Amino acid sequence: MIVTSLSAEDLKIRIRHHLTADLHVVNQILAEQLRTSSAFVSDITEHVSRYRGKQLRPTLLLLTQRMTEQGTTRESRMLAAAVEMIHTATLVHDDVIDEAETRRHVATVHRRWNTETSVLLGDYLFSRAFQLAASTGDAKACQLIGLATNRTCEGELNQMAARLGQLTSEVDYFRIVRDKTGQLFGLSCLLGSRAGGGTDRQQRAARRFGLRLGMAFQIADDVLDLNGPRAVTGKDAGNDLQNNRQTLPVIRAMRLVPESERPRLRRILAEESPGHLINHREIQSGIRSALETADVLTSRAIADLTCFPACPDRRLLESIATLAVSRDA
Ligand code: IPE
Ligand code: IPE
Ligand code: MG
Ligand code: MG
Repeated sequence: MIVTSLSAEDLKIRIRHHLTADLHVVNQILAEQLRTSSAFVSDITEHVSRYRGKQLRPTLLLLTQRMTEQGTTRESRMLAAAVEMIHTATLVHDDVIDEAETRRHVATVHRRWNTETSVLLGDYLFSRAFQLAASTGDAKACQLIGLATNRTCEGELNQMAARLGQLTSEVDYFRIVRDKTGQLFGLSCLLGSRAGGGTDRQQRAARRFGLRLGMAFQIADDVLDLNGPRAVTGKDAGNDLQNNRQTLPVIRAMRLVPESERPRLRRILAEESPGHLINHREIQSGIRSALETADVLTSRAIADLTCFPACPDRRLLESIATLAVSRDA
């Protein structure tokens, strides 16, 4: 089976097929956890669950577990659901910070209701996730979840510092994406490897794989913000520029033009409509350079998996890493 030559759509189908039972249970757990007698709360949680998203983090957790153990357990599916809930909580809050209009093809919570509802829903999802993780009785897993969530929040806070002009270098960018996105990816893979009885070395390698994959995934997301149509991504186009966010393709585009050309490029970034940015060759160069870096990260991530047995689960993880950079949603 040469999984690495799959298209994104084929990979999605193969993963769905491979993890049908597992993901079904994860979604059942999510639905049970969000059941409540309040019609208002149900209305909002249904709104955010209506379009599920890619469920990448639970997928990573389950595949990583299966690399060293044949099946998965009730506890690991609960942890997979908890990680997905934390991810959703961060998105609900992130959309307030970014003043986003659309998420997963529907209106964001603050647009559909109001900002207060988004803040409270995010808190509710975090709290539900920690309670669910705690109900596995695995104190170490809870500690790991807490540590990764701390770092995710720090990443979002440092991104705010960047927007306020306090952190502006490429080094700052990598630190921010490692935290805000890499940490939850790393956590998912670490929890999966732990659940599968991976050795200490394998657990460390699984976490590194997740961290690098998460960073590459965020770089690709930052590129999609510049060239991805909203109909495909399900999110606002050009949201990062609107928020004056220095993402890697923008940083690289700036760096690649001579100093004298920078004011003109700044004007393009400020004034051009999102759909037309891609027509400028400076933006194309920035995107190319950012994606080269994402490719290096995914190659390293794939190399992290060499301490695991060659098996279909590992090949699927390798395909996810390869396609994270060329994805369109
Ligand atoms: C969106 O994550 C936030 C980023 C890290 C870029 P996903 O692209 O995994 O979001 P969903 O869950 O599939 O909607
Ligand atoms: C990722 O950053 C947000 C989190 C990791 C919480 P983005 O702001 O780029 O994510 P999208 O594009 O809104 O999904
Ligand atoms: Mg955002
Ligand atoms: Mg984005």
